[in-house]
Amino acid sequence: MIEVDISEFAKKRWWVDQFAFVVLEKIGQKHRHLNLQDKEMISIKNQAEIEKMRKAGKLAAQVLNYIEPFVKEGVSTLYLDNLCAEFTQKHGATSAPLNYHGFPKSICTSVNDVVCHGIPAEKDILKNGDIVNVDVTVILDGYHGDTSRTFMIGDVDEKIENLVSRAENAMYRGIAAVKPGKYLYEVGKAIEKYISKFGYSIVRSYGGHGIGRGFHEDPHVLHYYSRENKIRLEEGMTFTVEPMINMGQSYAVETSPVDGWTVTTADGSLSAQFEHTILVTAEGAEILTQIK
Ligand code: MF3
Ligand code: CO
Ligand code: CO
Repeated sequence: MIEVDISEFAKKRWWVDQFAFVVLEKIGQKHRHLNLQDKEMISIKNQAEIEKMRKAGKLAAQVLNYIEPFVKEGVSTLYLDNLCAEFTQKHGATSAPLNYHGFPKSICTSVNDVVCHGIPAEKDILKNGDIVNVDVTVILDGYHGDTSRTFMIGDVDEKIENLVSRAENAMYRGIAAVKPGKYLYEVGKAIEKYISKFGYSIVRSYGGHGIGRGFHEDPHVLHYYSRENKIRLEEGMTFTVEPMINMGQSYAVETSPVDGWTVTTADGSLSAQFEHTILVTAEGAEILTQIK
């Protein structure tokens, strides 16, 4: 019989969680719903798997490098999709987005106020001053590599250029916070610390993710500080860091009721994103989707 007066604990949510944690530990139950140190589902990759992740990551990076010169004024996002799909196939891999939960294309192309999951279309022609995130995920020998960049079309307003370069910096700040023994929330903390000074907002309803045989594995990686990510990092974990940064003050987003995929900022402000797949190593993080 455990009897505790919870009124003191209830003053702060943190205490409520700590209290519940202690009680549940005592009665030997799991506490999955509290997300406290819940890493049972996070797969640790062995050497053979890591090698495959390196190959998949490298190919995803190659697709982005390959497509870069085609991302220009006047081209349709569907053209970019076709080229990426063809390149991926030629390299013996498949495009993970195609048919993923019914997604209709091989890459995601997210233009201007589209936050993520934009569907390539023939009618979507890139124009001078636009920004477009191209998100590539390949499956090679059973393993996923996931990476994206935001490209600028022609002459982009300086304010927009700043948004794009800061979104990229934010991703690298997050990656730099990765170290075995540290908590995963250091990633979001570093991103939030950096981004907060610009008056931008960090999207909360989409995050990074564990990755491997599965496209989206545990853990869910938050790009802002939250104790929900109080998960101890370990060598051999692989996950993505992919902050979506809105130029406006609101992180609120909306999903298109028409196609069920396209996510836009609720306030119509622009959004930029960069993504890498990383491996937790003894020293910190190895970026798998970067060609050295
Ligand atoms: N590549 C995206 C990510 O970074 C996921 C796209 S899922 C899709 O997680 F179905 F929209 F393709
Ligand atoms: Co991803
Ligand atoms: Co992606």
